[in-house]
Amino acid sequence: MAEDMGTKYTLQLDCASKDNQLAEVSIVDQLRRPTDRIVHMRCTKRLSKTGGGTKLGDMYGMADDMTAIWCKKGFRGNFEVDVQAKNGTLNLVEAIPEGIPEAKHFGVTYDDTPLSAADVADGGILVELLVLSADPYMRGMVKETNSYTGSSEIPRPISGFASGKVLHSKSDKWKAGDLFGASLGFTTFQVITAEQLTKTVMWNLTPYISEAEISWGVGILGMPGSTAYGGLIDVLRPQLPVEGEEPKDQVIWVSGAAGAVGGYVGMIAKHVYNCTVVGSCGGEAKCAMIKEKFGFDQSVDYKTCDDADALTAAIKEAAPDGIDMYFENVGGMHFEAAMRSLRDHGRVAVCGGISKYNDGERTPEKFFPTDMIYKFQRVEGFMCMPWLSGAKGQFLADCSKWMKEGKIAVEETPFAGIESWPEGFAALFTGANTGKVVVRL
Ligand SMILES: NC(=O)c1ccc[n+]([C@@H]2O[C@H](COP(=O)([O-])OP(=O)(O)OC[C@H]3O[C@@H](n4cnc5c(N)ncnc54)[C@H](OP(=O)(O)O)[C@@H]3O)[C@@H](O)[C@H]2O)c1
Repeated sequence: MAEDMGTKYTLQLDCASKDNQLAEVSIVDQLRRPTDRIVHMRCTKRLSKTGGGTKLGDMYGMADDMTAIWCKKGFRGNFEVDVQAKNGTLNLVEAIPEGIPEAKHFGVTYDDTPLSAADVADGGILVELLVLSADPYMRGMVKETNSYTGSSEIPRPISGFASGKVLHSKSDKWKAGDLFGASLGFTTFQVITAEQLTKTVMWNLTPYISEAEISWGVGILGMPGSTAYGGLIDVLRPQLPVEGEEPKDQVIWVSGAAGAVGGYVGMIAKHVYNCTVVGSCGGEAKCAMIKEKFGFDQSVDYKTCDDADALTAAIKEAAPDGIDMYFENVGGMHFEAAMRSLRDHGRVAVCGGISKYNDGERTPEKFFPTDMIYKFQRVEGFMCMPWLSGAKGQFLADCSKWMKEGKIAVEETPFAGIESWPEGFAALFTGANTGKVVVRL
């Protein structure tokens, strides 16, 4: 067994309460990861002696699925075992042309072939993914045809943003133990060749976080963080407060405000740029959270608004003199209400339009572009890549500093195990998440 996918565990086995000749002892809940499986029981080392007169030979064996062992009544103690992780890959097994994704559309395949340093060629690395991201843009990847790669094959492997750890390195850019964020196939353990490294978006998180914070690599220090950073700072361009001067009157409306990108945008706008921040999201609980935890000034529950007229009225109540900036995450009536609420010289950053991602057909929004002429307004679409790659700005240094200063709060909706990824993905479209969806492996 390769040491890279394996770990030595000390497990506590206690059969004292069973009165059968053979007792089943569950060990799965003592393992580190849901995908761990026991491949060797090495009961050579008995670390403590609490049982009544048991000997090592009293342990009989393991269940076929290696989740339990049998041993004689009275068998107790701590034993050393070797555990190897199952290497899971997430696949799309049924295309989803429209509607909310469900668990039945996805499947996980397992490979027990161990990977080790011997599998890594010069310039390559062996990595373990520790957290998978679920992001709204992935909805386009699971339609009949993957809108990013053009593939219509079924089953087809899922890829996306993840964070993890380098286990072995023959690359001069990475060393064993480095923490990273990357866009990769969703396979827990994988070798990345030198050629793949030149094409993969991958950034080093080691200077910014410890392993306990690895989920930040798919959140504030990952793709959504770079999106909020670039879209706010370079597309909407609020002005930084100047010491000794009156705060500027700059009002921003952020839709999808209780989610990952929207939450970061609002917190940076409020706590770094000192803007007046209005957030819209679904339901009272989320509206309370963005004010109490994120520090937004006003919240609007868009679910109480039937159309763009009602949403425009709700925004007017929250921002009576209109808005200078709109960070668009949702589309539809949100965009229409924003254009009606935008002041002179107003800016709109078009980041996403999640309200329509599950639709089969596209539908346009209604607004009058010529109104923008006389109001000197700007609507600009953007993608996160220039900031994520470091070509523009310094999002890793700035966002990690703001995290440490307490300007950005951590809000996550966690899921456990690769099998739970579809549930995390669906949460984005039902609104079951607050903050970042993180799937821990
Ligand atoms: N341009 C880029 O480079 C880029 C990069 C990353 C993300 N994005 C976009 O940014 C947006 C936010 O992404 P995220 O990762 O931060 O997701 P998220 O906001 O964490 O999660 C999605 C949220 O969208 C809301 N939502 C779902 N269906 C909706 C509907 N029909 N109408 C209104 N709201 C709905 C839900 O919140 P409620 O409970 O409040 O409804 C849900 O929690 C998405 O549109 C995404 O595509 C763009």
